[in-house]
Amino acid sequence: MSSIALFVFLSLLGLSSVGAEDPYLFFTWNVTYGTITPLGVPQQGILINGQFPGPNINSTTNNNIVLNVFNNLDEPFLLTWNGIQQRKNSWQDGMPGTNCPIPPGKNFTYHFQVKDQIGSFFYFPSMGMHRAAGAFGGLRINSRLLIPVPFADPADDYTVLISDWYTKSHKVLAGLLDAGRSIGNPVGVLINGLTGKDNAPLFTMEAGKTYRYRICNVGLKVSLNFRIQSHLMKLVEMDGSHTVQNDYESLDVHVGQCLSVLVTANQEAKDYYMVASTRFTKYSLAATGIIRYAGSVVPPSPELPKAPVGWAWSFNQWRSLRWNLTASAARPNPQGSYHYGGINITRTIRLASSVGLVNGKRRFALNGVSHVDPSTPPKLAEYYGIADKVFKYDSISDDPPATNAPIKVAPNVLNATFRDYIEIILENPERSIQCYHLDGYSFFAVG
Ligand SMILES: *[C@@H]1O[C@H](CO)[C@@H](O)[C@H](O)[C@H]1NC(C)=O
Ligand SMILES: *[C@@H]1O[C@H](CO)[C@@H](O)[C@H](O)[C@H]1NC(C)=O
Ligand SMILES: *[C@@H]1O[C@H](CO)[C@@H](O)[C@H](O)[C@H]1NC(C)=O
Ligand SMILES: *[C@@H]1O[C@H](CO)[C@@H](O)[C@H](O)[C@H]1NC(C)=O
Ligand SMILES: *[C@@H]1O[C@H](CO)[C@@H](O)[C@H](O)[C@H]1NC(C)=O
Ligand SMILES: *[C@@H]1O[C@H](CO)[C@@H](O)[C@H](O)[C@H]1NC(C)=O
Repeated sequence: MSSIALFVFLSLLGLSSVGAEDPYLFFTWNVTYGTITPLGVPQQGILINGQFPGPNINSTTNNNIVLNVFNNLDEPFLLTWNGIQQRKNSWQDGMPGTNCPIPPGKNFTYHFQVKDQIGSFFYFPSMGMHRAAGAFGGLRINSRLLIPVPFADPADDYTVLISDWYTKSHKVLAGLLDAGRSIGNPVGVLINGLTGKDNAPLFTMEAGKTYRYRICNVGLKVSLNFRIQSHLMKLVEMDGSHTVQNDYESLDVHVGQCLSVLVTANQEAKDYYMVASTRFTKYSLAATGIIRYAGSVVPPSPELPKAPVGWAWSFNQWRSLRWNLTASAARPNPQGSYHYGGINITRTIRLASSVGLVNGKRRFALNGVSHVDPSTPPKLAEYYGIADKVFKYDSISDDPPATNAPIKVAPNVLNATFRDYIEIILENPERSIQCYHLDGYSFFAVG
């Protein structure tokens, strides 16, 4: 009897918000231009509190985050919190279309709750190709102390932001796109803003201990393969879900993805390279970073582990990534307890990308419509009940038009019904990789 009573008491105390509000985390961020030299050539970067990449946000499930952002750039600026679901509304989501940008010289305070979420995410600037200049950083959501995590506490927890990198400024890149041209190929690859040329260790491990590395691809377009000399990586979490735990020699990390792996320092005590290198490209670019066993003075072996080759390898690896349906997530109940597989799909939307000329300018489209932001953000227009004056709903249908249909330029807003269970099929008939940012939802790719 008493143990049951104790359990109920603990539940009230720790697992629900009865009585007390969830904790707050406060941040003040100053966004400025600054000179950075990641590839040895000075270029204009976008810094947060003087840092490139920006500071990490270390939060716990249900924390309230209050973040006052001062935009000291000469352009409008917005930050989005990639993977954060923004339950109930999208007012703090930071995508053009849901939010007005922060004007130059002004500040805006984001206020959101990381409600019922765990895992590894990142934030990035969502306008004007700013992401090509910085202002991105890690965002982690730790499990609450009472929620079992399906692995032992790691000795430390490291954020590894990997990305392709351009030396052209974000304004030049934006100008190329606006002129209907391509941004071309990247010039290098970065790990936490560095290429590894200076050989300063990025991370330290003590022999025998196990560490968590959260690897996110924060780049613009290139998939990267990540690996560590002589060490296996045990995948434990992917984009906010605990996975079935398999060991990998290397992992493909596509743009926008975050993976958490456990690495045990079970090798000879010396330095080792971690490597991030381009996938599916004719060119080959890579960055290295050093992991040092505490006290080591032995440099890493210069021979880097090789990257896998080809698409098939990547598809096969993808097929091995599984949800662990019996592990807990943000709540103690298993991730699989909602019987997702038994819910009937109420709507299927096929979205096909295409590219073509509109008024002599190259534009990309989804189901034949190339999106433009209306002057009033659609969410704001809805809020003030003037949506019909600003844009039309459902300018595309749930199936792609004929492949040679002309491209129309319009705001592209689909109307869906609350609690619909929607299957989205993304089709890419083009010759280059497409990355989709499925913002504000909890996703797990199914095929
Ligand atoms: C932000 O940084 C700029 C440049 O260092 C400085 O002039 C400005 O006062 C800072 N603003 C805030 C709010 O800290
Ligand atoms: C992150 O937050 C957790 C929970 O409050 C804390 O235990 C941990 O030390 C923090 N880590 C860092 C790097 O601040
Ligand atoms: C701008 O920053 C000031 C000073 O911290 C704060 O009082 C104010 O609420 C902020 N304004 C917005 C719109 O967030
Ligand atoms: C899934 O998680 C549970 C709970 O931690 C664990 O007991 C089980 O071994 C995991 N299953 C797999 C296949 O990783
Ligand atoms: C799904 O549809 C089938 C067939 O119409 C029905 O028997 C079943 O109850 C539905 N499942 C749910 C979860 O609504
Ligand atoms: C959205 O769809 C619902 C259900 O079909 C419909 O009732 C509603 O009028 C639609 N709203 C708009 C703005 O088209």
